Amino acid sequence: MLRQLYTDQLQKLVDALYMENVDGFCDSLRFSGAVLSVRLDDAMSLGFSCRMQEGLRPYRVQDDDVRLQDERQGTRCRISPREVMPYLVQASWWPEAGRERAVQWWQECFDFLEHLPARLPSARDAATSPLAASECFAMMADRPFHPFAHAKGALARLVTDSPRLHWWALPPGSLLSKQSRQPAELLLSEAEQAALSVRLRHLAPGYVALPLLPTQHRLLLSESNTFGAVDLIFTTATGSPTSSLRTLASARNERMHIKLSTSASTLGAIRSMPPRYLVNGDEACRLLTQILERDSALTSAITLCDEHHWWVAGREQVLVRNPGLLGCQIRFLPPFDQAPSSRLLAMSALSYPHEPVWRRLLDGDADPWQALQDLSRCFINTFLNLWCHGVMPECHGQNVLARYQHRQLHGFVLRDHDTLRICPARLTRLGLPLPDYQIDWTTPNSLVLASMEELLAYFTTLGLQVNLYPIALAALRHSNRTEADFWRWVRTCIEDYAAALQDEELGRILSDSLLNAKAWPFKQVLGPLLTRPGASTGMPSAMGSIRNPLLPLPAPRPPTAEPMHEAS
Ligand SMILES: Nc1ncnc2c1ncn2[C@@H]1O[C@H](COP(=O)(O)OP(=O)(O)OP(=O)(O)O)[C@@H](O)[C@H]1O
Ligand SMILES: [Mg+2]
Repeated sequence: MLRQLYTDQLQKLVDALYMENVDGFCDSLRFSGAVLSVRLDDAMSLGFSCRMQEGLRPYRVQDDDVRLQDERQGTRCRISPREVMPYLVQASWWPEAGRERAVQWWQECFDFLEHLPARLPSARDAATSPLAASECFAMMADRPFHPFAHAKGALARLVTDSPRLHWWALPPGSLLSKQSRQPAELLLSEAEQAALSVRLRHLAPGYVALPLLPTQHRLLLSESNTFGAVDLIFTTATGSPTSSLRTLASARNERMHIKLSTSASTLGAIRSMPPRYLVNGDEACRLLTQILERDSALTSAITLCDEHHWWVAGREQVLVRNPGLLGCQIRFLPPFDQAPSSRLLAMSALSYPHEPVWRRLLDGDADPWQALQDLSRCFINTFLNLWCHGVMPECHGQNVLARYQHRQLHGFVLRDHDTLRICPARLTRLGLPLPDYQIDWTTPNSLVLASMEELLAYFTTLGLQVNLYPIALAALRHSNRTEADFWRWVRTCIEDYAAALQDEELGRILSDSLLNAKAWPFKQVLGPLLTRPGASTGMPSAMGSIRNPLLPLPAPRPPTAEPMHEAS
């Protein structure tokens, strides 16, 4: 099991370097005799055991066997996957600025991976709900094509230990919230609430108790406590981490999740809770609700989580610059029929490659190819529908849940609304109100987009490449279909959608940008992460491009020593 996870880790590394062609990585590649060699300098290279397969990421790592070859010394020795990064960062092409951090993140990934096999039995256990099992599989798969996705910093302890939440009281006027209810009322049992109110009784009226992760608890203990928060010396159990880790499912009600602010970074972004994001989430939710009301296909295909309950330490005046280091949000997943035939699954769980997750989570003999076709068709129709309305949710697989009834896909549940991208020109044309987004214009923002082409790029990158494509790669391992079959099916779905569109302009954009463009946009994450000096609240990324997989492949090339790269 662990060796499979190590192999996945190597695969993510090769995929990201290849697809982004980080600093000319592809020029350092040679493939022969089932070995992919990555040249480090004139004499040294790393060898990964690989198969070549047609597709956007043609090198398929076979196992965790890595060899270090030194032509000067005439030696070839095996190294462990953990040791790969310290060698790799010595390569002349590796971005100078990112060496030390890459080694540290790589070690963090391996430290974290060691704890994951222990979670698998519970994912397979019939007593674990399908939703909870899907969060486990999603946690193991994590963000595709990102070699540092498993570097969880301080958040790793939410999985490896079972830390407790620390309750602090915030004085009146120091919490931003639109709620009259308090976190304790929603989160705690009656007995816990009674115990907590005994502690609050010693304080002046109006204090509100806020749960904090241990990291934020320590932060308050060690640094100036500008809000005058009071430690209630009261702790409660955390619940089970979902696939974003800092969001935890309540042990009392698995459809109630608590999302917590932290100063830890994952994927290079600090996972705090700036209140402007929360306000934007409310605004986005309001807009999405209006859109769903207008479109009956969307009403039945999309359900939104309720994310309106949030509390963040701060004062209104500095909303845009508040980093949101102390805060929490309570998310309610929709209360669908609780019958066993009704299933909600974190979509990215379906990208876990080592077993047919569909069969396990839907309790049946689902044919992976058929299930993939159904999912792709429904996903493409639904999210292109949203696009036509001028919006695109952050549709990677961790934010979207697939909803099944009697093993049939019935639509999607969206969570994490704070990054709804919009095209104001389109919204205005449709008579939809513009959300009042709070934006810190001093940092990069990609929420407000000038054209429908730019908006579509977020569907192409996050929806097709980061969400559907890895699910396809996993499903295809359990089917006799190929990646080319998958992309042909995606093409059919988009063509059918475009053919049914009334709006010629939108049809033209789909045709020019998705169906017939030579290249697709591609969200680069590794290069920007390695070259950016510090962490911020947004994940570092840049838009590159990649060959359009919907176009027929160029004539096949023999598997020679020639570098092959398509990303630019
Ligand atoms: N398939 C996936 N795609 C993207 N991120 C994933 C995936 N699986 C797990 N993750 C993890 O989830 C987080 C994604 O960040 P995102 O901002 O969407 O969520 P969040 O705000 O931390 O939490 P939540 O989604 O619960 O609101 C990252 O920590 C990432 O490593
Ligand atoms: Mg998320």
